[in-house]
Amino acid sequence: MGRSTHCHLTLLFLLCWAENPDSERPSCDRCDPRLSCDCSHGGFTHVPVITGRALTIDLSFNNITELTPDDLTGHIHLRALSLHGNRLAVIHPSAFDPLWNLEKLDLSDNQLTALNHQWFDKLGALQQLNLLDNPYSCLGSPPLFQGLVRLRRLGFGGPALEEIKRGELAGVTQLEELTIHANNLARYEPGALADMWPLGQVTLSLHGPFLTNPALASAVLADVSYPNTPIVLEDLHLIGNETVQPLKETAKRRIRSITFRNISLSDEAIVYILVLLDGVPVSNFLSEDVTLTGEGRWEPARQTDQKGIDEVSVRNVVILDVFKFVSFLQLSFLLQYPRKVSVINAQVFVVPCRSSQLLENLQYLDLSENLLTDLTLAETLCNGEGTMEDLRVLNISGNSLKSLSTVSRLVAKLSKLTHLDISKNRYSSMPPVCPWPHTLRYLNISKAKLTTVTHCLPTTLEVLDLSNNDLKSFSLFLPVLRELHLSGNKILSLPLGSLFPNLQTLTIQSNTLNMFGHSDLQSYRRLQSLQAGQNKFICTCDFVSFLQSRIKGAGNVHITDGEESYVCDSPLYLQGEPVNQVSLTIVECHQVLFVSVSCGLALCVALLVFVLLWRLHAFWYVKMTWAWLKAKRSSRCRRHRNAAGSEALLSYDAFVSYSERDASWVDNFLVPELEEPRDSIDNSQSPRPLTLCLHKRDFLPGHWIVDNIMSAIERSRRTVFILSENFVQSDWCRYELDFSHFWLFDGNAGGEAAILILLEPLSKDDVPKRFYKLRKLMSSTTYLEWPQDEEKSAEFWRSLRKALRGEE
Ligand SMILES: *[C@@H]1O[C@H](CO)[C@@H](O)[C@H](O)[C@H]1NC(C)=O
Ligand SMILES: *[C@@H]1O[C@H](CO)[C@@H](O)[C@H](O)[C@H]1NC(C)=O
Ligand SMILES: *[C@@H]1O[C@H](CO)[C@@H](O)[C@H](O)[C@H]1NC(C)=O
Ligand SMILES: *[C@@H]1O[C@H](CO)[C@@H](O)[C@H](O)[C@H]1NC(C)=O
Ligand SMILES: *[C@@H]1O[C@H](CO)[C@@H](O)[C@H](O)[C@H]1NC(C)=O
Repeated sequence: MGRSTHCHLTLLFLLCWAENPDSERPSCDRCDPRLSCDCSHGGFTHVPVITGRALTIDLSFNNITELTPDDLTGHIHLRALSLHGNRLAVIHPSAFDPLWNLEKLDLSDNQLTALNHQWFDKLGALQQLNLLDNPYSCLGSPPLFQGLVRLRRLGFGGPALEEIKRGELAGVTQLEELTIHANNLARYEPGALADMWPLGQVTLSLHGPFLTNPALASAVLADVSYPNTPIVLEDLHLIGNETVQPLKETAKRRIRSITFRNISLSDEAIVYILVLLDGVPVSNFLSEDVTLTGEGRWEPARQTDQKGIDEVSVRNVVILDVFKFVSFLQLSFLLQYPRKVSVINAQVFVVPCRSSQLLENLQYLDLSENLLTDLTLAETLCNGEGTMEDLRVLNISGNSLKSLSTVSRLVAKLSKLTHLDISKNRYSSMPPVCPWPHTLRYLNISKAKLTTVTHCLPTTLEVLDLSNNDLKSFSLFLPVLRELHLSGNKILSLPLGSLFPNLQTLTIQSNTLNMFGHSDLQSYRRLQSLQAGQNKFICTCDFVSFLQSRIKGAGNVHITDGEESYVCDSPLYLQGEPVNQVSLTIVECHQVLFVSVSCGLALCVALLVFVLLWRLHAFWYVKMTWAWLKAKRSSRCRRHRNAAGSEALLSYDAFVSYSERDASWVDNFLVPELEEPRDSIDNSQSPRPLTLCLHKRDFLPGHWIVDNIMSAIERSRRTVFILSENFVQSDWCRYELDFSHFWLFDGNAGGEAAILILLEPLSKDDVPKRFYKLRKLMSSTTYLEWPQDEEKSAEFWRSLRKALRGEE
């Protein structure tokens, strides 16, 4: 029994073992070349298998519920791990142990109900830890962060955080950034956060404590407020005297920068805040996502001293009751101090001239993302008649302005204005000329609807942004321009560089540029950085090789917008291909060269072959063969016709084949001797005359010579070849020889049809090899030698006659 249970258990264990291993785990290989792996939004319920070389792993927004000890093994190189937005509830105490090199860990927005100090035991390199928005109610003991000596950024807390005790943050010092979500904090031991020093920036969400437990909020603020530590307070709902009292602690500690984020404020609260900050040197007063529930009646704070205020910034303001909201006029006590004012996205449609006049110290005004029009801007800038004389930067981006001449007129007298941002407005045309302050260096008219540029643009500009308009070209001389932004237009070619002798940066992405090259860039004398991606590039060889060399860093101009944004648009087969990965072959790149070189080569080869053939006498052979074939055919025809009696055809005793140079011998010796024989001295009977066929005499004029030869050979009983050096060199003789030869072996005349006469001593070896037929004949047929010695000539003639008559 016991043994059988044991067996079953083993089996079960084996089964489990077989089902468990890595192969069951999904994998994620969305890693970029920098070994940063983006496995977010992957629907993973467990940590997937990821390459052990990864430096950054983003597993945010998955459904991971648990981290086992094995999930992260092998990731010793990992620098950053994000598990934000999962459903992590269980983390094994040693889950992070392999991550010796981890610098950033994000566990925010999960389901961790308790934190365990063992998780962090081995993470000595950790610099950033985010534990925000998990449902734990306290940090717990022993202290979690004791071993994290390098920790610089820490975030903890969440909706469930109830208490912070002294000692829980032991070991944490020198933070650059501390974020605590403690909207529902109920208990705080004073001093719990006091040991952190220096502290770069503190962000606190203390909604509940400010509303219901000001003393607790005060205690927290007292522990983290230092003059040089900017403080950000989030999620506050400030309504009356009580709720703002905690700020007294920060005021007491003479804090300089305070930011409210996601805050709703009543008039009363604002007044109490101003009273609290009376005489406190808060220089930066910033707020974001503000809801103003009051009517702007802040004048009860008129007597307070706000001299220290340097910067006031309000972004994303919702005024609940816009129509009851009073002007800022009563706030002159506030407005006269700041040098920098931003009221961004705050439904501002006008700042009355009288309010503007109060802004005596103003150097920087940002009214972007509001509702200004040309008309209300004129009011805001007091029609361009001497307000804000110190203004250096004016940002009215994102309003509803239409007339460039109006804005230029309004700012013309701002004699210190250097920066003007009028982007995201509705300018559609440019007047021919515009007045501008002589100091203007920076002008941003991006995201408008301009179609052309004119001399309205001041020549004093150093930075000009005209991106996202409808420009088709840009040609204006701007001698001191350093930066030109032309992205998102419809420009076809790079502007002429000689117009901008000082240009250092040019962005011209997303236009309709087809290509650019070395000479285009050379016209820019000082250009260092070029961004020209996302254009419709025609990937010619010149362009591809030029760009590839630039990407590799050749030349003074650097392509700074990433090689992957340069993509071919045409030719079709390269469409969508990154220029950097295109490799064009030599054939595609140097077509003319290629064609001419290959033609030249072919010509050379042809010439070579020609020379070779000529050297090998191939033409002669071809000519011969052709003539031969033709002759053979016509001879066959003839024979067919005359099938009756071949003997009747034979009208000559011999056809004499000889070279023209040997004609004298033939005329003087051969013909007389054979055709008109003298009476021989010793013989009573004179020899019968023989009829000879001589081409000079017997060939039919007007017939093709080959035919003539053919028929001569056919109609002669014998063929006599007068061999000599001359013969060997004569083409016709060779033909004749060949024809006869073919006749000899083809026909029925037999081996004796050819008679060779050697006019001069000529051995077989003197005959060139290609006359193999002659050589063959010479070796097979006995030949007659013309004797040098005259006495022997009679003997010669006798032998010849004998041979001709066929008598041996
Ligand atoms: C996570 O799981 C829940 C419930 O099991 C499911 O509704 C949700 O769609 C899943 N989320 C993802 C990203 O897969
Ligand atoms: C803003 O604060 C309120 C409490 O005052 C809170 O309910 C809300 O979630 C916060 N909004 C954001 C975006 O944090
Ligand atoms: C506001 O509250 C503080 C402390 O609770 C009190 O000292 C002060 O007088 C109050 N101010 C006004 C104007 O009620
Ligand atoms: C002007 O405001 C816009 C929108 O707030 C911002 O993007 C831009 O950078 C600002 N311009 C300057 C010159 O600060
Ligand atoms: C010009 O304004 C646009 C829109 O506000 C902004 O995105 C861009 O960065 C500005 N250009 C420069 C050169 O500052």
